[in-house]
Amino acid sequence: MAPDESAQGLLKESSTRRSRSSDRGDNAAFDSDSDLDATDYIDREAARPTRRSPTASFEPNTKGKKRWCSCLFTTLGRRSKCCIGVLAGMGILWVLLTATGVFVYRKAQEEPPYGQSPPWYPTPKGGIAASWADSYAKASKMVSKMTLAEKVNVTTGTGWEMGLAVGTNAPAIHVGFPQLQLQDGPLGIRFADNITAFPAGITVGATWNRQLMYARGKAHAIEARQKGINVLLGPCVGPLGRMPAGGRNWEGFGADPYLQGIAGAETVKGIQSEGVMATIKHFVANEQEHFRQPWEWGLPHAISSNIDDRTLHELYAWPFGDAVKAGVASVMCSYNQVNNSYACGNSKLLNGILKDELGFQGFVMSDWLAQHSGVGTALAGLDMTMPGDGLGWADGKSLWGPELSRAVLNGSVPLERLNDMVTRIVAAWYQLGQDDEKKFPRKQPNFSSWTDEEKGVMSPGSPTEQEQVVVNQFVNVQANHSVIAREVAAEGTVLLKNEDLLPISRQGLSDERLRARRDAVERATGKRSEGKFKVGIFGEDAGPGNGPNACKDRGCNQGTLGSGWGSGAVEFPYLVSPVEALRKQFDKSKVELSEFLDNKASFGKGDGSLNDLELCIVFANADAGEGFTKWADVSGDRPDLRLQNSGDNLIVKVASSCGGGTGDVVVVIHAVGPVLVEDWIDTPNVKALLFANLPGQESGNALAEILFGDTNPSGHLPFTIGRTLEDYGAGGKVLYLPNGVVPQQDFKEGLYIDYRHFDKYNIEPRFEFGFGLSYTTFKFDNIVVIPQRRKTQYPLRRPNPAAEPPSYSTDIPSKEEAIFPPEIRRLKKYVYPYLDSTDDIEVGQYPYPDGYDQQPPLSEAGGDEGGNPDLWSNYVVVNVDVINDGPVAGAAVPQLYLQYPETESETDFPVRVLRGFDKVYLKPGEKKTVKFNLTRRDLSYWDVVAQNWVMVTEGPYEFSVGFSSRDLSISGTW
Ligand code: BGC
Repeated sequence: MAPDESAQGLLKESSTRRSRSSDRGDNAAFDSDSDLDATDYIDREAARPTRRSPTASFEPNTKGKKRWCSCLFTTLGRRSKCCIGVLAGMGILWVLLTATGVFVYRKAQEEPPYGQSPPWYPTPKGGIAASWADSYAKASKMVSKMTLAEKVNVTTGTGWEMGLAVGTNAPAIHVGFPQLQLQDGPLGIRFADNITAFPAGITVGATWNRQLMYARGKAHAIEARQKGINVLLGPCVGPLGRMPAGGRNWEGFGADPYLQGIAGAETVKGIQSEGVMATIKHFVANEQEHFRQPWEWGLPHAISSNIDDRTLHELYAWPFGDAVKAGVASVMCSYNQVNNSYACGNSKLLNGILKDELGFQGFVMSDWLAQHSGVGTALAGLDMTMPGDGLGWADGKSLWGPELSRAVLNGSVPLERLNDMVTRIVAAWYQLGQDDEKKFPRKQPNFSSWTDEEKGVMSPGSPTEQEQVVVNQFVNVQANHSVIAREVAAEGTVLLKNEDLLPISRQGLSDERLRARRDAVERATGKRSEGKFKVGIFGEDAGPGNGPNACKDRGCNQGTLGSGWGSGAVEFPYLVSPVEALRKQFDKSKVELSEFLDNKASFGKGDGSLNDLELCIVFANADAGEGFTKWADVSGDRPDLRLQNSGDNLIVKVASSCGGGTGDVVVVIHAVGPVLVEDWIDTPNVKALLFANLPGQESGNALAEILFGDTNPSGHLPFTIGRTLEDYGAGGKVLYLPNGVVPQQDFKEGLYIDYRHFDKYNIEPRFEFGFGLSYTTFKFDNIVVIPQRRKTQYPLRRPNPAAEPPSYSTDIPSKEEAIFPPEIRRLKKYVYPYLDSTDDIEVGQYPYPDGYDQQPPLSEAGGDEGGNPDLWSNYVVVNVDVINDGPVAGAAVPQLYLQYPETESETDFPVRVLRGFDKVYLKPGEKKTVKFNLTRRDLSYWDVVAQNWVMVTEGPYEFSVGFSSRDLSISGTW
């Protein structure tokens, strides 16, 4: 059977399936504690089944427990794996944790927890924005014809590995709404063949190039559409990068909300220009991997990121605002708790900030298993649960599905809320034009996330026997996207040091430079090198290792580093290693190449084997990734900021041995974030440092372009490189050991992360945020500040809604609509919307969360998609001329930093904040005028008392423009 037929068969079947018994109570609980105890959690904890594992293998997971053991052993510094030791250790730890938990609980009674999460109910309905009005009108017609079961289908995933994509909901067949296919992730189509492995988000951030941000998103979406995907699970703007060692920072665009916001929004626009729904994630404050979700780290609860209101607005929620303004279809809420309430059940975050204040019109989807209650999350503003299972991986016991049907029938979830959830999802589908069957044929994806074989089953997550069908059609969707991948990789490479060495040529050095060099060495050593230019390439990171896909989910550091690991990674179609590109491109008639592709540094120990080398290119790296897997001592988050696999040692040794200490050294680093370079950066013969971030499949080609000067480096750091981890402040440290049953992480540094911290405490970074060199030089001239509007403290009043949300009958549907249709074959563990019996369902007065009846005032910062439109009006324009006054063509990255006026109220402001950037290509001698538009939001701070964005009306704003956060040569005021 062809996959499409089988898919249709399955869909039809599922729409008429009947009766599934549920072991959950009448009413899913408001929060996870109230209906399940820890034993339930342990029993239900199933492995996140491995991809390409035998189908339907769902033995209980021991992964969390293993990690717990290894964590314990690391902690105690023991090596023994004796079981008694483990049990005793666990017992002691349990006692300690309980004691700490009691302590934390008591403390919490004494002092209110840092940051508040007040109730915000009910969920604002979608459909208030003019930009979505048509889609809502269409959606309303469709939703009004859906049965209860169909509505529930649309909101609930069918379970882990129940479809070919990583997430699938179920269709509403009779009204023509298809099953949606959701797939990771931010850097390509995960688990798919014949796709492009683009550079990671952090590399995109380092380009500071809006066009490339957009182009990468667009190419990504073309591939998604051609693979049969409706919803891409990216881009990622959270984590923001509070902690430089945070495991998933690389999926996002850099440690500044403005940069993240622009890059996120451009990516969203690029993706959605192809009709694919983008998902901005993870909302919000999922800043570290340790303890990000229950049981993954042995604890029953996820960490709580405790944030004050102003910091939430000005840092962590900021980029999500840009994505909403850009029209993003979906927002993924994160695993962690925020102010001690799970992000996917946090009414203040979802109802208050996202849906009221930011006016989000699309749908909120849970991260995979980030939902911890049924009714509670529905009321708090969640619209879609993924992958659909309940509290454990692949348990098939959804908190929604049949339980949502039940909750609507008994009145504990108002039908209005369910209607809003479904309408938001259907409206997003119309908004992106996915009703156009030519563009989005109603077919299953043409690849399977769960097998590489041509044939497989449609729902490998179910132990029920199924027919084998074609699941992988091996459709090549790469087109010429390698060009974009390569451009991003090249423009995202940051030249951090260059003492008259780069670029070199394919012949090595020009005759003149070579002669001068050899003369100098001869003068110093008495020896003269003859013949070909002698180049050495060093380090495992230069080579292919065991191939780019050697470890599942890229969860290890071997060979050259092209991406981090986890759901944000893809199967590389190929990875051009640096050595492969350099081997090909160096002119062998002029250059003699030696390769040392490991990190053992076993050369040169007295044997002088490197004595002849004139240039040494040494590669090193640092890897990290998502917390569901670990490599060496990197449990998602890095344990420190050092290069891995003894990279520092390798560089130091190469520098001392290369040409007996006289050779020139170029260091190339591939990394997930900042690394410390102190061990070798000031070594005199370390002449150049290229920070190539995570370049994706075109790694070697992009690097060669830069080394040989075909492309003039124009990347700039999207984070600060400090001299020590301590330099980043207390807030910059990952919490590696739990400080309670619910680990508490207070974001006490507030606004002061990354460069804001360095600036406030006047700490000299090694390389500052925004820094990057070029082979040419640029200068500024002629700054002009042109006011566009008058300064006023508050934005214009919140506008009345431009459109009315659809309204539907609020009569509770007939119980019949939720009864399992008798005639179909059920798949075990598959999540259906149906119940076996509805006899015990009674409409009642079920308790609602505290504050449910007191709707807070609507936010003055809201009123339209993206919030109050006045926040997006330009209030001032800054023009400045940029001139290339160097020898070659190149691209400059002018950056505008704003300094707030001093206020009488003594509001605390960072020394400077990024509020504009551009990328301009200039020939030698060329001049261009760059224009920065500053919006009201750019010029405001979040006033926690006024609960609004406030502009400072007394005293001048200062706008400094420069090439990094510390190289600001020209300024103007307003
Ligand atoms: C990640 C998400 C991802 C999802 C689906 C989760 O573990 O946090 O970013 O989209 O899995 O793979």
